[in-house]
Amino acid sequence: MKTLKIADGIHMLTLNVEEILFEGMWELANGVTINSYIVQGDKTAIIDGVIGWDGVPETFYKGLEEIGVDPQKIDYLIVNHMEPDHSGWISNFRKVKDDFTIICTEKAAKMVTSFYNEDKIKIVKEGDTLDLGKGKVLSFHPVPNVHWPDTMYTYERSTKTLFSCDMFGSFGMMGDHCFDDELTPEEVDFFESEGMRYYSNVMITFTPSVKKAIEKAKNLEVNTIAPSHGPVYRKNPQKIIDDYIRFARYAEGTGKNEVTILWGSMYGMTAKAIEHAESILKREGVKYNKLQMPLESESEMVATVFRSAGIIIAAPTYEYKLFPPVAAALNELGRKRITGKVAFRFGSYGWSGGAEKELKEIVERNKMNWDFIESVEFEGAPKEEHLAKVEAGVLELIKRMRDKVVE
Ligand code: FEO
Repeated sequence: MKTLKIADGIHMLTLNVEEILFEGMWELANGVTINSYIVQGDKTAIIDGVIGWDGVPETFYKGLEEIGVDPQKIDYLIVNHMEPDHSGWISNFRKVKDDFTIICTEKAAKMVTSFYNEDKIKIVKEGDTLDLGKGKVLSFHPVPNVHWPDTMYTYERSTKTLFSCDMFGSFGMMGDHCFDDELTPEEVDFFESEGMRYYSNVMITFTPSVKKAIEKAKNLEVNTIAPSHGPVYRKNPQKIIDDYIRFARYAEGTGKNEVTILWGSMYGMTAKAIEHAESILKREGVKYNKLQMPLESESEMVATVFRSAGIIIAAPTYEYKLFPPVAAALNELGRKRITGKVAFRFGSYGWSGGAEKELKEIVERNKMNWDFIESVEFEGAPKEEHLAKVEAGVLELIKRMRDKVVE
């Protein structure tokens, strides 16, 4: 647990977390931070907390001690969002001190009660304020469905600091550098990449709400964005706002100038055509990523497809349907509402086809609205004529994805 000063009377406590399955399912290659913020006037408020694992609240109290905050003097716990990565310590805190008030939206209040049996709750609505004294005034701004329906921003008026919770967050653990102006160019790239992983794994389903939350942030005068995951933006908060605008566009079909090959092959027949597709991409100078299913982690798969303007699905028929690990990946992309990508599929079959039918079913069921180039299927190994069709398909993909590139 690390403590950092954001401004007079405002501190951040940040905890690196690794080797967890975030939300019980996302394997995070580079971990994540959980950030909490303390605002001190005459009264003291904590904005969000920490995950409620054994031993973690105690580390948190130690962090408070470091910045001279006695847990007994905390008056308010502001729950910007009830998900337990932020609120999991509430029951532990209630054992330490019994007379603090939880401040949250009505939707969060219901969950705080059902998850933690809490009842000392003050419900706030858009524009409500809390004067902590010594010039520190907090205002509250619900941003529902970012990422749960209960979420709100908290804004500190005197420093123009936006405590944005999940919004404007990123995966990836922080080292010595926690502010945007301290990050090296490599760290900037790292957090942009981890931001895309975070957005695509956790936030993407709520893209329409994220867009509304971006507008709400723009309407507040913001000097500093302090999210609950990832770096604090105090030099250029517009950078993370612009990133999120771009990420929302990636969810709707644009992407970086790269192709992702989502593939599986039982006995190497489809793989022969993949080799050919790769040679075309290399010849045309197009960057590409290869994701072999089921070997790739779900987190990486979703993030890589999300950020790519063009997708190649290379998978055979398996028992009259699409190769199951690739079908599962596509279903997940559909659940995440990744829409509008330009795509091209090819694959082998043995005694009958069927992959194509299931592909169409998945895309239609999930209303993915992907722009598919005509698929190429071949019985057994691909012949010259099939490889020529694969080449034509890849060239058409490159042509169509040009309009979709947003860097
Ligand atoms: Fe950081 Fe939606 O929890």
